[in-house]
Amino acid sequence: MPRGVFITLEGLDGSGKTTQIKRLAAWLTRRGMEPVVLRQPGGTASGDRIREILLDSRSAAVAPMTEMALMFADRAQAIAEVIQPALDAGKIVVCDRFTDSTEAYQGGGRQIGSEVVLDLHRLICGGLEPNLTLLLLPSFQVSLARARHRNVRVEAETGKDENRFESEKDAFYRRVWEKYHEIARREPDRVVLIEGDLSIDEVHEQIIESVAERLVTAQPIR
Ligand code: TMP
Repeated sequence: MPRGVFITLEGLDGSGKTTQIKRLAAWLTRRGMEPVVLRQPGGTASGDRIREILLDSRSAAVAPMTEMALMFADRAQAIAEVIQPALDAGKIVVCDRFTDSTEAYQGGGRQIGSEVVLDLHRLICGGLEPNLTLLLLPSFQVSLARARHRNVRVEAETGKDENRFESEKDAFYRRVWEKYHEIARREPDRVVLIEGDLSIDEVHEQIIESVAERLVTAQPIR
């Protein structure tokens, strides 16, 4: 039984997760907690290599099942190498995406369905569930425009091509969006839905409120 607290952030590309994770980590650090922060895919040496295969638009021919398997391969490594040891040591782990992303993107977006994803989750993640999931869903149009703009900038600055998902059609993202809503409805105790085009400060406030509440009710943190 893990003694730490596991928090995940979820949302469409361009939902502002990265900014919010930085602010949440700074907030926790100011309170004397040293959060372990990671992202998926990525977060370990082999995970970073898997990320390159998954996000590079030259990998466009990756089949949906391959994509899902690689997401879980990355996750299994992150759990073994980073997440579980940190939770066992009583730490707070903040993860940018987890299995809800696979359910939304591969289950919903790629139309594999939730059941397969949840079965694999049970098998591969050994029942590890976040204590709290913050689901950021600003309006559909705003998220997508931001994600596409950001990737053009990142590619220009670093030469890295992480466009494969963002070049998907709007219909794909609609399905991802709907699946995220379905997850939030199904698991209201775990998932806090932060909707609408709120300011960065407003989203941060809502996140802090939920996290503070959860830190009080969750297992003790050393
Ligand atoms: P991000 O690091 O900018 O959030 O990008 C990761 C991309 O990978 C994003 O488009 C969502 C996608 N993704 C999946 O499709 N399934 C998953 O399980 C995960 C973790 C990410």
